[in-house]
Amino acid sequence: MVCLGNICRSPLAEGILKSKLFRANVVIDSAGTGAYHIDQKPDSRSIAIAKINGVDITDQRARKFLAEDFDAFDLIYVMDNANYRDVIEMARNEDDIVKVKMILNEVFPNENLDVPDPYLGGDFGFKNVYKMLDEACEIIAKKINPDG
Ligand code: 4NP
Repeated sequence: MVCLGNICRSPLAEGILKSKLFRANVVIDSAGTGAYHIDQKPDSRSIAIAKINGVDITDQRARKFLAEDFDAFDLIYVMDNANYRDVIEMARNEDDIVKVKMILNEVFPNENLDVPDPYLGGDFGFKNVYKMLDEACEIIAKKINPDG
């Protein structure tokens, strides 16, 4: 799960997908394309909206997306078009490129919609982002582990 800062959207996506796939043998992680918040905890508003929904993301720490992540992961979900461009720029070959998916395309195929960056907004933005990511992660979880 990749966003810009790795403190708002992708930590939520990581936490939500982990909560839906806790029985499955999969590694789920998140990272940012930017280096502004390395080693920081998720934004307090992401922590709060996750907690309301029964998901604990307090142990996460921000890190930067690395080219090695293309080797470590089969699927790389980005939150918006800018993340997509930044991650694709780091791809080394076609195998890397095909791993990168816009997360809302799981809900709205081929529309390339952004999960809006809630960083400079209020709590409503975080609630909205949570709802979008929960819907997308429900679909991803069913694909990865159809038996639940
Ligand atoms: P995120 O939100 O990409 O969802 O983690 C942001 C957090 C911080 C910044 C931008 C977006 N920033 O510019 O510091």
